[in-house]
Amino acid sequence: SQGAPGPEGAAQVLVASNRGPVSYTLDDDGTLTAKRGGGGLVSGLSAIGPGTDAVWVCAALGEGDREAARRTGGHLDSGETGGQSVRMLDIPADTFEAAYHGIANSVLWFTHHMLYQTPLEPSFDQGFGRQWAQYEAYNAAFADALAQEAGQGATVLVQDYHLTLVPGMLRERRPDLRIGHFSHTPWAPADYFRLLPDEIAAQVLRGMLGADRTAFLTARWAALFTECCERVLGATVEQGTSRPGAGGGGEPLTVTYEGRTTRIGVHPLGADGDFLRERAHRDDVAERMAQLRGQVGTGPDGGPRRTIVRVDRTELSKNIVRGLYAYRRLLTDHPEWRERVVHVAFAYPSRQDLTVYRDYTAEVGRVADAINEEFGTAGWTPVLLHVKDDFARSLAAYRMADVALVNPIRDGMNLVAKEIPVVSDEGCALVLSREAGAYEELAPDALCVNPFDVRETAAALRTALELDPATRAARSRRLAATATSQPPTRWLLDQLEALRD
Ligand code: G6P
Repeated sequence: SQGAPGPEGAAQVLVASNRGPVSYTLDDDGTLTAKRGGGGLVSGLSAIGPGTDAVWVCAALGEGDREAARRTGGHLDSGETGGQSVRMLDIPADTFEAAYHGIANSVLWFTHHMLYQTPLEPSFDQGFGRQWAQYEAYNAAFADALAQEAGQGATVLVQDYHLTLVPGMLRERRPDLRIGHFSHTPWAPADYFRLLPDEIAAQVLRGMLGADRTAFLTARWAALFTECCERVLGATVEQGTSRPGAGGGGEPLTVTYEGRTTRIGVHPLGADGDFLRERAHRDDVAERMAQLRGQVGTGPDGGPRRTIVRVDRTELSKNIVRGLYAYRRLLTDHPEWRERVVHVAFAYPSRQDLTVYRDYTAEVGRVADAINEEFGTAGWTPVLLHVKDDFARSLAAYRMADVALVNPIRDGMNLVAKEIPVVSDEGCALVLSREAGAYEELAPDALCVNPFDVRETAAALRTALELDPATRAARSRRLAATATSQPPTRWLLDQLEALRD
């Protein structure tokens, strides 16, 4: 497959990501059930949509996916993929596990989100070398598949920290391609990034610099990446001529390393306003709203209780526990809010194969229970924690939100911060972490907090609840306008255009 397009090699646009647009579960009777993938990456990339000749290359994530890949020879193209042509790679389970959980989710994700917490972590010892070799093999499997599927001179968009080595590997196999890389995560500051073993840190950066262009969600993450290129590789970073792309597409920076120059792009992904508004007004959402209203209940004044809404994957970086602490502080310091507000917290299972994620999930449950025990009354449950993923119910909560709580420790963008103001019926106040990528755009109309400061977050929740309705609605309208200014289709087209320049 090296050097020339393979037999399939017809696609002119390809995207590659670990998680694809669908994932399958396999029932005991052999039935495969498809489910849409979660997270910002899938939301953004879904804009490539059906009816194009684009091919989306992704990994089989579990037994269901592997079975689907086997039954179809890895080429899925059906109603279940939304008509999208998908090539699902059946990577050996041990290679996949080591690459996905071992390296991508436990090392690279932890590094970019600065999640290491004890003096004992990380330690790169015995097993690490073997895992890294699997990460290389997994990246090579993607590079091989892309080299096969891509037509002459095609454009390839490689996504995220799972696939940092692919751009360099693909360039070796197919120098004719235009290769872009996009990071959906934050990027770590050089002092933190350099906790990776030197040769690994260098390999990640060199892999990404194999792209013609590598792009980020905010100028902040782009600048940190170039700082790492300078400090780790001794690469040359130059300021470009055009303005860093508030609307995306600008080329603020270039990185030159070993005679090749990679352009650095900034494309803040926005919410898909048209899709969300339409989807949020279907019957299944109305049904869920009626149920949720019943659970939230009415306050002492006979009116519906106010809601503080959050919707996340149960993800360490989302800071769900400190959000609960802040809510508890609000109820402790401002007893006048008891019985009048409900914290609607949806925390959907994520990466449950990792012990720290399971522990964190349990901790979220414990803290929510403790708050309900301490403050709850016969007619009032202060925290409504739901853990079963249900998109229609998420939209129902968005519509009912008086306050949206988005307080991640560190987050590439956070689309929920953009989605809730778009969907909320009455307009919501947004309590927003300054460490979320969305902060760069939404700060002027949000109540911004240091995510580690529980007292400040509690105070912001109170301010948010007490904003007068007209101010709140006006701010929410401005938030929604900003949030939808770069819809996923625009975001994707901008990247394709910039790559073809
Ligand atoms: C983030 C990452 C995505 C990932 C998503 C869900 O948004 O940037 O690459 O797909 O989380 O995580 P998961 O591990 O379930 O794919």
